[in-house]
Amino acid sequence: MNEGLMEKIVALCKRRGFIYPGSEIYGGITGFWDYGPLGVELKNNIKREWWKSMVYQRDDIVGLDAAIVMNPQVWKASGHLKAFTDLLVECKRCHLRLRADEKEELIVHERGHGFRHSGKPKAHPESENEQVDSGQARMTGDRMITDDIWTSPQKFNLLMEVRLGVIEERKESAYLRGEITQGVFVNFENVISSSRVKIPFGIVQIGKAFRNEITPGNFTYRSREFEQMELEFFIKPNDEEGNKWFEYWKDQRMQWYLSLGMRKEKLRFRKHEDNEKAHYARYAEDIEYDAPFGWSEFEGIHHRGDWDLSRHKLTYKDEETGEEFTPWAIETSGGVDRSALFFLLNAYHEDEKRVVLKLHPKLAPVKVAVFPLLANKLPLVKMAKTIYDNLRKEVEGLVAFDDRGNIGKRYYSQDEIGTPFCVTVDFQSLEDKTVTVRDRDTMRQERVKIEELYNFISQKLS
Ligand code: GAP
Repeated sequence: MNEGLMEKIVALCKRRGFIYPGSEIYGGITGFWDYGPLGVELKNNIKREWWKSMVYQRDDIVGLDAAIVMNPQVWKASGHLKAFTDLLVECKRCHLRLRADEKEELIVHERGHGFRHSGKPKAHPESENEQVDSGQARMTGDRMITDDIWTSPQKFNLLMEVRLGVIEERKESAYLRGEITQGVFVNFENVISSSRVKIPFGIVQIGKAFRNEITPGNFTYRSREFEQMELEFFIKPNDEEGNKWFEYWKDQRMQWYLSLGMRKEKLRFRKHEDNEKAHYARYAEDIEYDAPFGWSEFEGIHHRGDWDLSRHKLTYKDEETGEEFTPWAIETSGGVDRSALFFLLNAYHEDEKRVVLKLHPKLAPVKVAVFPLLANKLPLVKMAKTIYDNLRKEVEGLVAFDDRGNIGKRYYSQDEIGTPFCVTVDFQSLEDKTVTVRDRDTMRQERVKIEELYNFISQKLS
């Protein structure tokens, strides 16, 4: 099943309008992607479900939408100007640039293991041509050859610079945000004074972030422009609270993915070693997904302690006790693009007869498709159109109409994009005002009264 899965997903995304390469007609631009008519629905559905679970279904979290460009002082205070770096190495012979950890990966890669994707850096020509007899000899040989020809690792800042203003000489330098997080911290006082939050409480945000990634790749997995959905949950600064809330949010985030159909065996937690933690993190664990290119970071749960609030010189005053302190923040930081990619990979099924995206109905871009059995029988088309018009007004999400080809082809087409239900108007419908509703996963069909159709479908979508 996993054979060529990434290639299949990339091709399906392009063909069916989920994801296109950015600026494609001009040859593309590395690390930037555009979401098509179905992709934007999938992303919106992910974001809506996340927002519902974080804001609407709780009374201790509020939302925010901060600006992408902030005063550069923010990035100085937050430590990003100094520490938001990756280590870059460059091949002295062919000038291939990689992150230092990727160089190790490449060595393994060149030994002939692992998944190879077009988005990955190309194998180094020197070692690709190397002729070896046995796996062990090749391993040793490659390591010697490959290690020798790389520069020593250099720090490389990931913040993407922009220049503000119109007069060239007076333009001011600023940054596109490298994480959406800082917008929450700098508005900490504003939110407290304008709403009724009391510790423990959270502020969430969804929005774009930008990073000058050294090697974007694996389709949308590592992009230069991407969307994050984050929670900063503020708590009293002590270990008991810190441990309690860290474990609580780990569990909540894992449950959220499972509730939307992620397979349990595809997810795991991984604790960050001390040498890989971000500069702001006291402690960190990732939720990882078992992707075709290996276990990969999906979402980070970070214990940021008082790093940010103290750097921004912000405190909290308990109204009841008068006590003033710097709260700690527990952060959950997920990627919308990674969610879209991993939900697609998780949903992909194929057998001899069909390709089907078994997306959770809440995430499926098209909720229901309506077909007249035959396109050339006017009464069938008319009735199907009326049902289609009514459902469009009632169903939250896209409703499709299709009268092309035969019914089998239409089912195939809807299965491939994950439409949970297909409604067919046939000759019996004209007599008894019922339609067939076909379930994507079981392929079973039920007859449902037209007047009960909306309730029937909305129950299944919820
Ligand atoms: N505020 C904390 C923070 O930004 P992070 O681990 O650097 O933490 C959080 O990023 C999440 O953002 C990641 O788990 C991933 O889902 C997403 N993300 C980070 N870099 C990305 C990239 N280059 N392309 C796509 N998504 C990315």
